[in-house]
Amino acid sequence: MKAILCKSYGPPENLVLEEVEDPVAGENEAIVEVYAASLNFPDGLQIQGKYQFQPPMPFSPGSEVGGIIKSVGPGLKDFQAGDRVMATPGIGGLAEQVSVNADGLRKIPDSMDFKTAAGFAMVYTTSYYALKQRAQLQPGETLLVLGASGGVGLAAVELGKLMGARVIAAASTDEKLDFVNRLQPDALLNYGDGDLKEKVKALTDGKGADVIYDPVGGDLFDQSCRCINWNGRLLVVGFTSGRIPEYKANLALLKGSSMVGVFLGRFRKEEPSEYEKNFSDLLAMYNQGKLSPIVTESFPMAEYVKAFEVFSQRRVMGKVTLEIKAE
Ligand SMILES: NC(=O)c1ccc[n+]([C@@H]2O[C@H](COP(=O)([O-])OP(=O)(O)OC[C@H]3O[C@@H](n4cnc5c(N)ncnc54)[C@H](OP(=O)(O)O)[C@@H]3O)[C@@H](O)[C@H]2O)c1
Repeated sequence: MKAILCKSYGPPENLVLEEVEDPVAGENEAIVEVYAASLNFPDGLQIQGKYQFQPPMPFSPGSEVGGIIKSVGPGLKDFQAGDRVMATPGIGGLAEQVSVNADGLRKIPDSMDFKTAAGFAMVYTTSYYALKQRAQLQPGETLLVLGASGGVGLAAVELGKLMGARVIAAASTDEKLDFVNRLQPDALLNYGDGDLKEKVKALTDGKGADVIYDPVGGDLFDQSCRCINWNGRLLVVGFTSGRIPEYKANLALLKGSSMVGVFLGRFRKEEPSEYEKNFSDLLAMYNQGKLSPIVTESFPMAEYVKAFEVFSQRRVMGKVTLEIKAE
């Protein structure tokens, strides 16, 4: 099969598209023939050796795919060859086939195409966990979402609205905000000029937001600590700005606010049944037409450099996928 491989850390141009051995399904695993693979911001870090988890070299990046089960290994129950699935192998997704453990396999409705399936799991499960378990977001509360046009941000806007919050969608350009506006947030905020704090205060009668969803970090995090409401929760989701900020404890004291970490991978390991319940809830929401995942850009497999550039050039609006095999 063909696979996009990282053999030395560096920019996407260092990746190679090569023939490798087909994977073989181990105990409790399936081999998924990949039709579409999703890219996420961490993939771009991983190929540079800058992510908190680095697989051994060489590796194929890509944590989630949509495709059809080709074969199943010993002990795998509930799945068989021919099943259409969304799969979260964790690594190895940018390839024509990938082996996936049972807990990373989910059947998809016939109405869901493979690129939608590929881009569903990571963004929705992260943002739902963040808003539901970590923030315990309540109807009527104000939710500020930073990086609102990106993968996890867009899912947070959509889920925040469904959970009954007043959602302020914030991004760095008007073009991105126009894009997010299709989800009908209650307010739009452009922080492209560097100001977040005063704009949030103006939109919240000077009180600040009850919950702040932050996948960006850096200066926006610093300002978020200063425009959070009494009893507010600041969700630490990621650091796309490139700077891991420091939390000023005096601000937590003065505002009665909390900084709350969000780590999907650990949640999945520590609380597997809660994770499964979240996932089922999300698929039910999709089946009821309440969620509309938006894949905006889909590149042929050979154009993987262009796909990675959407992230490194800060251009993401919605989900970005690679088309590995035509449907
Ligand atoms: N904690 C968890 O369990 C978990 C799970 C999934 C993802 N994450 C993290 O969440 C973050 C977002 O992931 P994603 O896949 O949703 O990313 P994405 O689609 O690229 O979105 C990231 C957003 O960050 C903003 N941003 C600000 N400065 C940036 C910069 N210098 N370069 C690129 N983007 C910048 C961009 O919006 P503006 O231009 O509007 O600012 C962009 O929309 C990543 O740090 C990822 O590691 C964490």
